[in-house]
Amino acid sequence: LNNIAVLTSGGDAPGMNAAVRAVVRTGIYHQLNVYGIMYGYRGMLKNEIFPMESKSVANIIQRGGTILKTARCKEFYEYEGRKMAYENLKKHNIDGLVVIGGDGSFNGAQKFSQEFDIPCIGLPGTIDKDIAGTDSTIGFDTAVNTAVEAIDKIRDTADAHDRLFVIEVMGRDAGYIALHSGISTGAEHILLPERKTEVNDIIEELQANERRRKLVNLIVVAEGDETGGATEVGRIIKERCPQLDTRVSILGHIQRGGAPTCTDRILASRLGYAAVDALLEGIHNVMIGVVNDKIHYTPLDKAVKAKQEIDPEWFKIVKILAS
Ligand code: F6P
Repeated sequence: LNNIAVLTSGGDAPGMNAAVRAVVRTGIYHQLNVYGIMYGYRGMLKNEIFPMESKSVANIIQRGGTILKTARCKEFYEYEGRKMAYENLKKHNIDGLVVIGGDGSFNGAQKFSQEFDIPCIGLPGTIDKDIAGTDSTIGFDTAVNTAVEAIDKIRDTADAHDRLFVIEVMGRDAGYIALHSGISTGAEHILLPERKTEVNDIIEELQANERRRKLVNLIVVAEGDETGGATEVGRIIKERCPQLDTRVSILGHIQRGGAPTCTDRILASRLGYAAVDALLEGIHNVMIGVVNDKIHYTPLDKAVKAKQEIDPEWFKIVKILAS
């Protein structure tokens, strides 16, 4: 192993920079040449590949986003695109690739590593925490803390005006941000893609709450919930409970940005270091995660989107604690 490259791909996540920094500095420590690839696979196709030094990653551990930029690249789905990308890597004699991204990015890396002789390592970077083979993903802790901070602020207005707020958090296919932020802000209801919630049941409860003068209500909805997100849930409640002062708030991309939390910086640093270690050890074509506080390897083809069962006990806890 002499020359490795690192890229970030898919949606950005806070902590990606800390992971890039760890890959670059660990690589340099082992006397490897380290290259950065701009805009994920798109930069691989367009030969936007440049040598990185230790100082290229100075002052980035605390920054959200990704200095390598990111993109979703359609051409990489095609063999021709992957071949072009391979030829570009060969121009720089790159013999190891670290991909920081989500399941779509690993899918690309998996195909690429099967077709061409470039060992790939995936690192889970997504705010959604929806990847098998790791207890958390780079960015999740930050996103959830951002959501908590925002919901706490909304609660002030809910309390001051005796309002009901329906708040939408991110999570196209996974409800972890909703579950964690909802529990830690004392939400009365949490709606997730993993579990069907009957809006009728919520309405009955809201009416009962009103009878006992419990007027502050927070409902946290994951964007991927099958009712149709906070807009639809809010619309139904407004229609059925016109006497309630109901507002809808969609948190959106503020959850993707900002300085990574300590937890995300540590996860990212540990994974970036482990990625170079794995390449040096000859461990190839795996995603590296952390399970029970230990480094854990998952073959890239198994590092898929994981729609895990959410323990129903959580919903019991939500109900009891918010009653
Ligand atoms: O995968 C991360 C995520 O933020 C999802 O929670 C969300 O559905 C999606 O990305 C939004 O993607 P984009 O920023 O491309 O619209």
